[in-house]
Amino acid sequence: MIKDTFQGKKILLGVTGCIAAYKSGFIVRELTKRGAEVRVVLTPSAVEFIAPLTLSSLSHNDVVVNTFPVNQKNGTDLSTWHIDYALWADLMLIAPATINTIAKISYGFADNALTTLVTALRSPLVIAPAADVDMYNNPINKENLLKLEKLGHHIIYPESGELASGLSGEGRLADVNKILDTVELILSGYKKDLSGKKILVSAGPTYEDIDPVRFIGNRSSGKMGYAIAKSAYLRGADVTLVSGPSSQNFYPEIKMMKVRSASGMEQVIKKEIEKNDLLIMSAAVSDFRPVKAASNKIKKEKGIMELKMSLNPDILSSIKAKKTKVIGFALETENEIKNAKKKLSDKNLDMIVLNSPGKESGFEVDTNRVTIIRKDGKSIKLPLLSKFQSANKILSEAKKILE
Ligand code: CTP
Repeated sequence: MIKDTFQGKKILLGVTGCIAAYKSGFIVRELTKRGAEVRVVLTPSAVEFIAPLTLSSLSHNDVVVNTFPVNQKNGTDLSTWHIDYALWADLMLIAPATINTIAKISYGFADNALTTLVTALRSPLVIAPAADVDMYNNPINKENLLKLEKLGHHIIYPESGELASGLSGEGRLADVNKILDTVELILSGYKKDLSGKKILVSAGPTYEDIDPVRFIGNRSSGKMGYAIAKSAYLRGADVTLVSGPSSQNFYPEIKMMKVRSASGMEQVIKKEIEKNDLLIMSAAVSDFRPVKAASNKIKKEKGIMELKMSLNPDILSSIKAKKTKVIGFALETENEIKNAKKKLSDKNLDMIVLNSPGKESGFEVDTNRVTIIRKDGKSIKLPLLSKFQSANKILSEAKKILE
């Protein structure tokens, strides 16, 4: 078992009045499930959209709505609860944040419990706006967000899509998973240190067809590669993800290129590689494929079926990267370091990440234990971490080879 980044963290959640306020319940539930202590502050209009009782039940704490609360608990002094809360917090997240609250914060208003608290805050402030498309795109709102960002606050920009009004466009609250990943990243001390970098990530298994209904694949879920793609995006990189079949979620800002087979992946990577500063090849590419895929379903009548396999192209060995740096993965079950170092040099890589499949690492699980081996031979053995945290450590090493 690993310690979750949220374990023991003190988080203030501000909720403002818009339809996306109902999503704050999911945020509180997820944060508390992962070990954070959450205190919620609502604006008066947020109460029109979500009941304080819902959020106090989910957070197991009283919810503040009034600047001058009548029955404040949690050991706070009635007159200085906003200072007590501000000093208590490791981070404050406002999700959803209306354009009204954004405007007030950017001008330093302290006219309700939430905005008053923000003015006293010492910890990082993360703002996830939500509004209808024209409200969100209003130049005054854009200017306010820019101002807040320049002041060092973190903005989780909304997504495009269907809105409650029936219109479609920018303004939908960012996906709850993306909000939680961003908060985790900030709590772990990571910054947007990959801004301006273009990163190509491969992930997942490849499927090699036997006939129209059967294939040969492997146990890769894509979790590690998707975690790398997401962390790289949140740290500011422009990310393209080439993924074999995988059901992992990703962010809409990540350019997704779905492939099925090793040769499909090879084609896309060869086409994309030169557009990027870095390729991280975390896909579990199938080494073999049936010599010929049958065009019709193979019938079982014969009883025994023999499958002749031929070798797939080795993508890493066949790419000729001119300026793009390349990081490979190695999956080893014996002589791990020696084999990984051999792959590093045989495949002419700038770095390799050694994975050893086990109960808590490798395929299908959310945790991993990896060793990063650099070109100069130095290896960095990481402890058991979540794949998201492993991804961040790998990216911090990757950043050094991009400098
Ligand atoms: N890889 C690749 N093309 C393949 C097979 C693997 O580009 N056909 C890449 C993987 O994405 C990984 C690295 O090569 O980054 C090492 O993959 P791994 O499966 O550990 O090793 P293989 O080279 O396939 O060798 P072996 O299976 O014999 O260990």
